[in-house]
Amino acid sequence: MESNNGLPAKFPELKNDAFLKAARGEQTDFVPVWCMRQAGRYLPEFRETRAGQDFFETCQNPELCCKLTLQPIQRFALDAAIIFSDILVVPQAMGMEVVMTPGKGPTFPQPLADPADLSRLRERVDVHRHLGYVFRAITLTRHRLEGRVPLIGFSGAPWTLMTYMIEGGGSPTQSRAKRWLYQHPEASHRLLSSLTGVIVDYLVGQVAAGAQALQVFESHAGCLGPTQFSEFALPYLREIATRVKQGLRDAGLELVPMIVFAKDGHFALKDLANSGYEVVGLDWTISPKLARQQTGDEVTLQGNLDPCALYSPKERLCELAGEMVRAFGTRRYIANLGHGIYPDMEPEHLGAFVDAVHRHSRSINAA
Ligand code: CP3
Repeated sequence: MESNNGLPAKFPELKNDAFLKAARGEQTDFVPVWCMRQAGRYLPEFRETRAGQDFFETCQNPELCCKLTLQPIQRFALDAAIIFSDILVVPQAMGMEVVMTPGKGPTFPQPLADPADLSRLRERVDVHRHLGYVFRAITLTRHRLEGRVPLIGFSGAPWTLMTYMIEGGGSPTQSRAKRWLYQHPEASHRLLSSLTGVIVDYLVGQVAAGAQALQVFESHAGCLGPTQFSEFALPYLREIATRVKQGLRDAGLELVPMIVFAKDGHFALKDLANSGYEVVGLDWTISPKLARQQTGDEVTLQGNLDPCALYSPKERLCELAGEMVRAFGTRRYIANLGHGIYPDMEPEHLGAFVDAVHRHSRSINAA
């Protein structure tokens, strides 16, 4: 039986379920590993595919997204793929213009200046109409993966997206966006709520399209203190977990593991461990031991090697990977970097890291 664009109606059978098992807290033979930004500029084949093309046009092209997603999987023994896209496609779907300026990063020519600007946003976003290209990329990629590893879908979290929509790009302080929290708390909550609604539909749509796990990136958690995090970030992260699960049940879809990654947010780890996500992602600024103490036995932890450890000579890198695996333990653990890999990193060093995680965890399990 064939459906959408000549693709079979059923997805290929999954051959490596270590990542999904670890996310659910089940024992695995080895610790699964993947890497944030694994489809990225550190790979020469990525640079070649991206060359001369606009970033967001690439995101809108399912064939190219699929190709870029598969590149690191073809090179390394990674245990999960993450769909090539960007968190800023959500503000675009809400009606904002975003361009990728080479050397500068994402830029919004007309950021939100004050609460009156909220009227510029679409009140209701039909994610199938405005983000259908991501769903098509996911479906195509899930087929082309041929069951080798599971496919992760993702979204930015409301607070992180709000910072971009107000700052208009990257910012060292996020002070314009934080100004809203102090001067316009009510409008801030309105914006965060609308973002939450779109994100929920978007994530449910990704699972319907074939995503087998979901990660929510709260990359700008660290500029909030504990009080503001509990008021402006955590409630929306919780709401996303609850409503996505409900949305999946309502649509007759199976639940998938959800990962929350709040960068520099370890002041909130206890709360994050109880926020409805199966996996909590960690940056490198917390020790595995302290993270386990804070989060208890009910969630899987993901992380957290300093990305710069990839600059080490390979032998040292393998030792560091081994120390990390021993410190986290081989149960309820998914190895990753503490943030995305940088463009100037040696691809073979990622391969060495992946292999070291597998080797060390197998030998710990065998002992
Ligand atoms: O992890 C993956 O391999 C999947 C793809 C992915 C991208 N962006 C591709 C991308 C994911 C998960 C993201 C998420 C994303 N995008 C985040 C959250 C994660 C994090 O890093 O905290 C954020 C904050 C963004 C916004 C964004 N997009 C930034 C800050 C940049 C870098 C700009 C620059 O030039 O350095 C991007 C661009 C981007 N997104 C690239 C990639 C591979 C590089 C640009 C390119 O390919 O030309």
